[in-house]
Amino acid sequence: VPTRHFQFNVEWKKVTRLCHTKQLLTINGKYPGPMIIVNEGDNVQVKVTNQAARNTTIHWHGVRQLRTGWADGPAYITQCPIGTGKTYVYNFTVTNQRGTLLWHAHYSWQRASVYGAFIIYPRMPFPFSAPVQDHIPIIFGEWWNADVDAVENEMMLYGGGPNTSDAYTINGLPGPLYPCSIKDTLIQTVERGKTYLLRIINAALNDELFFAVANHTLTVVEIDSVYTKPFTTSAIMIAPGQTTNVLLTANQIPDASTGMFVMAARPYLTSVFPFDNSTTIGFLKYKTTQLEREKPPLPPYSLPSNLPSMEDTAFATNFSNQLRSLASADYPCIVPKEVEKRIITTIGLNLQDCPVNETCKGYRNKRFYASMNNQSFIRPSRSVLESHYWKLNTGYASDFPEKPPHVFNYTGVDPVAENMNTEFSTRFFEVHFGTKLEIVLQDTNFLNPENHPIHVHGHNFFIVGRGFGNFDIDKDPAGYNLLDPPERNTVAVPVGGWAAIRINADNPGVWFIHCHLEEHTSWGLAMGFIVKSGPESFQCLLPPPSDFPPC
Ligand code: C2O
Ligand code: CU
Repeated sequence: VPTRHFQFNVEWKKVTRLCHTKQLLTINGKYPGPMIIVNEGDNVQVKVTNQAARNTTIHWHGVRQLRTGWADGPAYITQCPIGTGKTYVYNFTVTNQRGTLLWHAHYSWQRASVYGAFIIYPRMPFPFSAPVQDHIPIIFGEWWNADVDAVENEMMLYGGGPNTSDAYTINGLPGPLYPCSIKDTLIQTVERGKTYLLRIINAALNDELFFAVANHTLTVVEIDSVYTKPFTTSAIMIAPGQTTNVLLTANQIPDASTGMFVMAARPYLTSVFPFDNSTTIGFLKYKTTQLEREKPPLPPYSLPSNLPSMEDTAFATNFSNQLRSLASADYPCIVPKEVEKRIITTIGLNLQDCPVNETCKGYRNKRFYASMNNQSFIRPSRSVLESHYWKLNTGYASDFPEKPPHVFNYTGVDPVAENMNTEFSTRFFEVHFGTKLEIVLQDTNFLNPENHPIHVHGHNFFIVGRGFGNFDIDKDPAGYNLLDPPERNTVAVPVGGWAAIRINADNPGVWFIHCHLEEHTSWGLAMGFIVKSGPESFQCLLPPPSDFPPC
């Protein structure tokens, strides 16, 4: 097995955007961070050296980490942080996976600046026919003028407050709709008549995004590193933590004076909290034989007419419904047809009374928390994977409730009338190796609209069902797609609805499940599960590496 080595230095770097200069936590001084490109089947060794006065960890989002949970990265779930001056080598093999993923810091809100693309070239040729001229990474992020640690602290202290970035970015560039940013604009050159593979990644902290390129259609061929049945769409929706590969053919006639088309990303939902509701744009530039322009055209800019408007739930639903696994002989869809265990869990926000004599910024002088089945996740103080592996069984419990605590109408709950207080706990559930598992994620949606992209570590899952309103265990399973459901690692649960996912729990270890909106995770919208090692050696977690960071 070929080994690919990478060196990641965690270091501060002065970066300027929107005419605002600040010290940013980076990898190797890059924002966004360096791209990792490997081949399917490679052993990957990333040596992370922490040169900043901050604890950190790195997560390889969507990489399965078969038997190598020690390299997964979420702080206090699989490992303790890498301290200042310390080094840890993330060592894992990319087995039977290919496509576009991302890596990001998995400690507090460091993902704001510590993220990048993780690309796995396939062993076999692409299963689609169009010859691909080039690969174009398109990575969405957010830029804060404020210090992100301070924003996070405020959220935690007051249970709410402004959590608004100052710009969305494409490949770290805000684009000309933001102040002072004309020079920080993505201009992507293409050749007329050629087809490109856009590797689109949403690394933003807070928002599901719509993305479109003026005049062009996009053909979706892969999501979360799994091939899909190709379909052509005017725009895509992509949640934080998700990746989407699309084919774009440069088959339009560009404006003669600029040779450019606008590409744009804006949030799907923004109305609940003061999230950023602005739009980032860049340009697709057709190569011409005439004078090449390096700069974006002069304003005004019109947004692509094919960009869905904010809160276009009809578009979001229709887009999600079109996603189907390729389910071919080479890439079969191994969705469990029967399940051995079903967990039904609410996902949503809660309101907690404000401590006496304090001011809270959640809602009606209360503070926000978030929970799954009323369990607001408290981060343990040593890694659960270690506790589990060494059979210490401390710092967590294995009794995550399999059903919601009480029966009520999950959607449209009145937060003031309902008892929204949560329990604070560190609860997981345990399954034996190979369990066929179903998890139903029910949005409680008490402040409409509320959305949650739920990410599962260590496994892909199949989205067998989705719907609006309350999940009905007597009716809804009959409508599941067990033939070609989309396979992914992050699901955007429908707003005010539910999603049912199925998992082959075939990766021994401790795996985090959480909302990929950073703020909701901080408030406790998380849980996890433990897959016990099986009797055969290939079903066992490998021992921890010798440089594993101590707590
Ligand atoms: Cu991309 Cu637990 O995260
Ligand atoms: Cu959420």
